Amino acid sequence: MDSSPSQCSTYVRGLFDRIAGRYDLLNRVISLRLDAHWRQKAVAAALKGDEKLVLDLGTGTGDLAFMAGRALGERGKIIGIDFALEMLRLANAKKRNDRQGQKTIFLQASALSAPFRDRTFDAALTAFVLRNVADLPLFFAEAHRVLKPGGKLVSLDMFPPAGSPFSALYSIYFYHLVPWLGACLARDRAAYQYLSDSVRTFHRPEAVAEMIRQAGFKTVSIGRFLQGAVCMHVAEKAQA
Ligand SMILES: C[S@@+](CC[C@H](N)C(=O)[O-])C[C@H]1O[C@@H](n2cnc3c(N)ncnc32)[C@H](O)[C@@H]1O
Repeated sequence: MDSSPSQCSTYVRGLFDRIAGRYDLLNRVISLRLDAHWRQKAVAAALKGDEKLVLDLGTGTGDLAFMAGRALGERGKIIGIDFALEMLRLANAKKRNDRQGQKTIFLQASALSAPFRDRTFDAALTAFVLRNVADLPLFFAEAHRVLKPGGKLVSLDMFPPAGSPFSALYSIYFYHLVPWLGACLARDRAAYQYLSDSVRTFHRPEAVAEMIRQAGFKTVSIGRFLQGAVCMHVAEKAQA
């Protein structure tokens, strides 16, 4: 996106407010329901189950937060933050129907100035957010700041797969069919064209790993699904 970070954030917030009502449906359709499986992997990589406070950055309609809540013990809590109010409204509506919903708290806030003290959280999660963030180094710096020493950051996101027959198939699906699905199911081709373009023009997973290291994390590993079309970065903050 050729614009300032604040223009980019305004655009992204408006886009998610606009598509919020159809977001979950499109997620399931576009990922062929694999998103739940990837989220489960992210939760398993981030949590042992005894964490007291966990953060979900860019929580959207809350699916990752609810899944993390189910993996936490009785005294664990998860705070999901997002700047798009319509996405949070849906997260709160789902919370009322979730048996473990009392473990989740949703707040409207920017992940680029997270309203928490240093060293607050035992772990942080984020899913499908990085491509939408106006300032990735700041995003990772904030995640590092609010984590306790030894805390983990686990991020899931989509990346352009490279150099295999699969990548050609994927390009047809993700770069051509997805905007069409967005037009049919969400009546918003422009939003799904943006999401498709955001994958095509995104960094390589190794470059994202390097940004995470630059933010101060001690170790970073990359897990790959669907031949690298979806990657999971697992980073750990150094012990004090
Ligand atoms: C593709 S959605 C992902 C939602 C959710 N994590 C999921 O797994 O379904 C991206 C979300 O990130 C949020 N977002 C992007 N940049 C943000 C920022 N700087 N601060 C807070 N939320 C942000 C958007 O509002 C949107 O809800």
